[in-house]
Amino acid sequence: MEQERLQKVIANAGIVSRRKAEEYIQKGRVKVDGKIITELGYKVSKHAIIMVDDIEIKRSQELRYVLLNKPRGVVTTTSDDKHRKTVVDLIDLPERIYPVGRLDYDTTGALLLTNDGTLAEFLMHPRSGIPKVYLAKVEGIIKGEHIVALKNGVVIDGRKTAKSRVKLRRVDIENQVSFVELTIHEGRNHQVKKMFEALGFSVIKLKRESIAFLSVKDLPSGEYRLLNKKEVARLYGLMKTSSNETI
Ligand code: URA
Repeated sequence: MEQERLQKVIANAGIVSRRKAEEYIQKGRVKVDGKIITELGYKVSKHAIIMVDDIEIKRSQELRYVLLNKPRGVVTTTSDDKHRKTVVDLIDLPERIYPVGRLDYDTTGALLLTNDGTLAEFLMHPRSGIPKVYLAKVEGIIKGEHIVALKNGVVIDGRKTAKSRVKLRRVDIENQVSFVELTIHEGRNHQVKKMFEALGFSVIKLKRESIAFLSVKDLPSGEYRLLNKKEVARLYGLMKTSSNETI
């Protein structure tokens, strides 16, 4: 994981010069994760909590936008009390970024991470209407009536889901499994699994193939890439369009 020198981080936060930061460290005025550090050049990770005179510094951050192809067995959070691997552990950036929305521990695929609170808030807003395409491997044979029900919305947690786009990609009669593409615009908790459960099916595997125009088709599992300026501008464009309409 990328680490930076303590005095540099303090100076970059814009409160004091590098020299002053060094002086503060030597005088014992700086704490890292609750411990006084007097060593110059002490290396800190992006997650370290740094305090000067017991006041936490706000670390200056470049805005980052990451698309990760989340593997199975990784939690979508910034820290896990059970010490499981988190999506943030897979990303080597000096900035503190956090996931936009959530994929289950066993769900794979497209996950955005950023430190841009404005964009994250928009993307997570239920009314932002960002399409998310999932591929679900489901136990059993999905038929026309199930497709219609999923399209029109099913009741989960006492409330009907919004209309969605559904495509039956493949049915494997021999193994009694179906592969269904589901495009939803909401982001309710365990939504896809619950939608199938509402019809009596259980999801064996779930992958989010894309969020808006961002797909993980060319991104191997566990890898990530930074969004380019055009992609970020396109996401901001969606925010503008959407604010003219619904939000
Ligand atoms: N729906 C689910 O059920 N799980 C996910 O991880 C994402 C959507």
